Amino acid sequence: MKALIVYYSMYGHIHRMAEAVAEGAKEISDTQVEMRRVPETLTEEILGKMGALEAQKAFSHVPVCRVNELPSADAVIFGTPTRFGNMCGQMRQFLDATGQLWAKGALVGKVGSVFTSSATQHGGQESTILSFHITLLHQGFVVVGLPYTFQGQMRIDEMTGGSPYGASTIAGGKGERMPSENELAAARFQGKHVAGIAAKLAK
Ligand SMILES: Cc1cc2nc3c(=O)[nH]c(=O)nc-3n(C[C@H](O)[C@H](O)[C@H](O)COP(=O)(O)O)c2cc1C
Repeated sequence: MKALIVYYSMYGHIHRMAEAVAEGAKEISDTQVEMRRVPETLTEEILGKMGALEAQKAFSHVPVCRVNELPSADAVIFGTPTRFGNMCGQMRQFLDATGQLWAKGALVGKVGSVFTSSATQHGGQESTILSFHITLLHQGFVVVGLPYTFQGQMRIDEMTGGSPYGASTIAGGKGERMPSENELAAARFQGKHVAGIAAKLAK
């Protein structure tokens, strides 16, 4: 059983969540877990102006994903920062390059799931994940979220991401907040949950 974690991260928040998703997925025995970044679409100059170059060095070792890797996976867990309540352009461009896979039905029946990050608590985490699901459904993915058996999403004693749609983290307006223990636990839960379902389907 193979689980691919495919993500974009500008300042490292989604990267940290992706690592936690991978940890969770690895808890399901005989699961091969691989992390991939989607291709960058911005120039170094623009990334520099956005203050992203230093942060991105920390995960530059993660291989860049090619769309033709997707059919080999039983599950794909996508991570994207929120951009105006939606997925980021880098992820959109990657998904828009999967037309040939769609034409062949190459992703039908795979498990798909999404996690996200936004600057503010109500800045569009749910709309980002739910609108991402539309593309997954067009591709025939079996969409999986974060069930309430992850009890950490019931917490009100601290500010936290995480909803039935998927794990998420609140990065802060300057990216100053990294994922909390509760948000990382949600990401680990989602990784394990998705891999567990994919393993059952693979049988
Ligand atoms: C163009 C742009 C649009 C953004 N739109 C939103 C938004 O709608 N809501 C929000 O809370 N944060 C928004 N953000 C903040 C990002 O979501 C935040 O930087 C990101 O989640 C951090 O994750 P990363 O470090 O993995 O890139 C936006 C950032 C940029 C650059």
